[in-house]
Parts: sequence; structure tokens; C-alpha cells
Amino acid sequence: MQTQILEPDGGSLALAAKIIKSGGLVAFPTETVYGLGANAFDGDAVHSIYEVKGRPQDNPLIVHVHKDYDISGIVCDIPEYAKKLAEKYLPGPLTMVFRSKGAVSPAVSCGLDTVGIRVPSHPQAQAFLRCVDLPIAAPSANVSKHVSPVTARHVYADLNGRIPLILDGGKCAGGIESTVLDCTGAVPCILRSGLVTREMIAEVAGDCGVFVPRPGEKVRSPGMKYKHYSPDCRTMLFTYADRAAAYGEYERLNGEGQRAYLMCDDAVAAEFLPDNLLALGKTPEQIAANLYDKLREGERKADVIIAVAPERQDGVMAGVMNRLTKACGG
Ligand code: TXA
Ligand code: MG
Repeated sequence: MQTQILEPDGGSLALAAKIIKSGGLVAFPTETVYGLGANAFDGDAVHSIYEVKGRPQDNPLIVHVHKDYDISGIVCDIPEYAKKLAEKYLPGPLTMVFRSKGAVSPAVSCGLDTVGIRVPSHPQAQAFLRCVDLPIAAPSANVSKHVSPVTARHVYADLNGRIPLILDGGKCAGGIESTVLDCTGAVPCILRSGLVTREMIAEVAGDCGVFVPRPGEKVRSPGMKYKHYSPDCRTMLFTYADRAAAYGEYERLNGEGQRAYLMCDDAVAAEFLPDNLLALGKTPEQIAANLYDKLREGERKADVIIAVAPERQDGVMAGVMNRLTKACGG
């Protein structure tokens, strides 16, 4: 199969809609990462997402809709706090999990009685969703377990020859996946952290839990149990307090003739001034936006990526730490 990369315009959006309606897959930009979309009502199309990605069959997909799409045919029992959150943060990088009405293909939810709904804010994601006017099941458009894609080129590198079309909307500004929020309980509970932070949710909903699986307890978001976001090279992760040791390891490995790269924020980079640098930027938003791009740059250039965790780990950095820890082996 030939994979086309096209900028979204009238012609390419009409082509995308035609592919989706005939059961095919289309990769499209969002404000977080690129998604790999299929018609959520079409079981065969949804199954092919798992095949193309090599994704485990028990890791459910998020359903994407445009901002005027009526989700009352898909989900039920939407609590008051979720309506307030939607008002404040949607369209945007927040996925809300509700009880499913069983309208979308069972392959979307992998046997769960819930479904995650996301309304992306990226104008070209909105244009695509509006053009198809169907709920679109879409995971990140990478091969399963690899680093999520934030450019059309990243999608192409992973899925060339396996999908017909990539809509190229440039580099994603957010950089890490949406916050996944369980909205089936009395209090919302974060299943995956992201750019809509616990603090932002608690401000609107009054309270917000964070799900931490205890040993033996059933995971509520199956995606949490898998290795994820991993570059195709060796990785090491040091705490901020151990950053001097990280630099020591960087020097030692380069001295041995291995290509070690230091991945860190601008402040740590300024402390050590390494030649082989994967600079994440200064602010939490910049660090989130650059993380996957730098992991992919690292796997092209380095034998070993030596990452230094950021000093602060609250707010947006909670999401960055979650991805960085998984990228570096869990
Ligand atoms: O930003 C994003 O969310 C991107 C873009 C493309 O929208 N999508 C994305 O999808 O990250 P994916 O498939 O890579 O991650 C979806 C996560 C997984 O951890 C999955 O387990 C969880 O959402 N999830 C999906 N449906 C769920 C459900 N019904 N209950 C609990 N967790 C769910
Ligand atoms: Mg993913």
C-alpha cells in the first residue's frame, strides 16, 4: 500500500472521509500527538487499528468527535462535574471516560462497559472530524510501544506502507497524550496524566483523584500495564538530584566510544554543557512539547540516551515524568 502525506484541504479531507467511510484508516494531527483513526461503528475497521499498530487486544481506544457532535447516542450517565469540565476544557487535551451505551464497536472498549470520549482542539482535527461526521476511534499513530508521533514524518516512519493517508498538520503543540479521566464515579479520577492537570480538574470539579494501582489490583486503564513510548536505543533515567552522576555516566560512555546523549531541560544543560545534547527546553509546556521529538531524534543519533528528570514534578510535569519513566523502561 502506498502511503500519501497530504496537507488538510478540501480535497484531502474529502479523500480522508471516503477512506474512513469505506473502512480504512487515516492518520491525523491533534494538539497532543498524531492519531490513527477509524470509524468507531465499524468493527472490522477498528480491528485493523490493532493489527496495523501491533497493539494488544485488551487496550481500549479513545473515541474522537467534533465539538458539536451529540455523544448522547454513545455514552450515558454523564455527571454534573463532567459537564462543567467539558465547558471549561473542551475542545482540548482531556479524554473523559463514561458508561458506554454499546453503540460503538465492542472492539473500541475491549470488553469494558465504558468508553473514552475526546474532543481535540486542533483546527485540522476538528475539520477532519466534521468532514467525516462519525465518531473516530484513534490511538496514537505509532507502532505499539514505540514513541508517540508528533509530526507526519514520525507517523510515516512507523506506518509507511500500512495506511493509505496521513494528514499533515505540522508539529503537534502539546506533545504528550491527553489526560484520561474516569468520570464514572462520584469524584473524577485521573487514569493517565497529561496537559489538563489534576489541579485544573480539581479547580472545576471540587476534587480529583489519581488512580495508582496497588499490587494485585485490577488496572482501570489497561494501557497502564504496558511498556510504552520507548525509543529504539538504550536509555537511562537519573533523578534531578543525581544529575552530576548522569553527566559522569555520559562522559564515561563517550570515553569508551559509545554515542551517549544527555537529554535534559535547559537549566541542566547549562550546568554541564554537553556536546551531545537532546535539549527539552525551559518551561513545562516546552518540555512536554519536545519530549517525543527528542526521544525520536535520540534513537536516530545515539547508542544510549541518558535522561535527567526535571526538578519539578507537579502539574504538566507529572505527565512528562510518567512518559519519561515508561520510555526509559518503566
Ligand atoms: O491525546 C491522545 O489521547 C491521543 C490522540 C491521538 O488523541 N490518543 C491516545 O490514544 O493517546 P492511545 O490509544 O495511545 O491511549 C489511550 C489510553 C490508553 O492508556 C487506554 O488504556 C486508555 O486511554 N483508555 C481508553 N479507553 C478507556 C476506557 N474506556 N477506560 C479506561 N482507559 C481507557
Ligand atoms: Mg499510545
